[in-house]
Amino acid sequence: MMLAADAVFSTDLPLPGRRQGKVRDVYGLPGRTPPALLVVATDRVSAFDVVMPTPMPGKGRLLTQISMGWFRWLREQDLVADHVLSTDVPAECLQDPALAGRVMQCRAARVIPIECVARGYLAGSGWAEYQRHGTACSIPLPKGLRQCERLPEPIFTPATKADQGHDENISPVQAQEALALDPLWSRFGGRALAQRLERLTLELYVRAAEHARSRGVILADTKFEFGLALDEHGEPTDELLIVDEVLTPDSSRYWPADRYEAGRDQPSFDKQVLRNWLLEEVAAGRWNKEAPGPSLPDSVVELTLERYREIARILA
Ligand SMILES: Nc1ncnc2c1ncn2[C@@H]1O[C@H](COP(=O)(O)OP(=O)(O)O)[C@@H](O)[C@H]1O
Ligand SMILES: [Mg+2]
Repeated sequence: MMLAADAVFSTDLPLPGRRQGKVRDVYGLPGRTPPALLVVATDRVSAFDVVMPTPMPGKGRLLTQISMGWFRWLREQDLVADHVLSTDVPAECLQDPALAGRVMQCRAARVIPIECVARGYLAGSGWAEYQRHGTACSIPLPKGLRQCERLPEPIFTPATKADQGHDENISPVQAQEALALDPLWSRFGGRALAQRLERLTLELYVRAAEHARSRGVILADTKFEFGLALDEHGEPTDELLIVDEVLTPDSSRYWPADRYEAGRDQPSFDKQVLRNWLLEEVAAGRWNKEAPGPSLPDSVVELTLERYREIARILA
């Protein structure tokens, strides 16, 4: 087993403008034209939107490897440009050996504040809403669908991109309205921009799900983020880019196809082990689902990492 000393929990690189997401640290790369960013996938893990205090050594590298494999695939699809410039460690931090394999130099973008989710199966928040209202993101669905059942056709179920806390599911029409009402996004198409994101998200999902299925896994759902490339003055242009990570187990639900059965929860290639352990902690009154999360036992770290390694191997 890898030692915890190999884990990257947080970075402090000699680059300006550090922003820390739940999992990634993002920096500016000075002097690049057009403007570029360094995205560092750390070994942090989050669950229920809380970052755990215990890192998972090597997780950031696995995520970067999976995401890059899909970015290469995406270029062959020729549907949308992406933000990746290179996976080289930039000259400013060459002396930092921990960065190799976990960084992406990217075109800087103004990120569109809509999480673009496509679902082909009824799980997670989609299943929760369906049980209460018979809908997912207000999209009416046939009656009598079971948990994790395949949908008649994939649906676009967007969410707001909350700076803090939980993202909120909205209807596709609300996504259009949100972009139409915002002065910046309305300049770049507003409603039409949202419709373009919807079509792209669904087309990418259908193709990626087909590819995953050929490897024996079901891509039940996934989330994409898009942005407008910035020009040399830092202003958004009309060049749409797919940004962030793509089709990783952190942004997608992957299920082993040979064990799929509707009507129950599915085993999955993600943080299920961690989530289940955390739910036991909650049930035992030892955690209230708020920050800080509890320290994770070695077994939970190792079993979760094993799931990430397995999906990386399958998709490689
Ligand atoms: N090309 C890009 N330009 C600007 N921001 C980006 C780009 N790619 C990704 N990001 C942002 O970088 C952050 C990545 O960190 P992450 O840990 O995923 O954050 P979060 O907690 O919001 O999920 C996200 O906020 C994402 O929107
Ligand atoms: Mg993220």
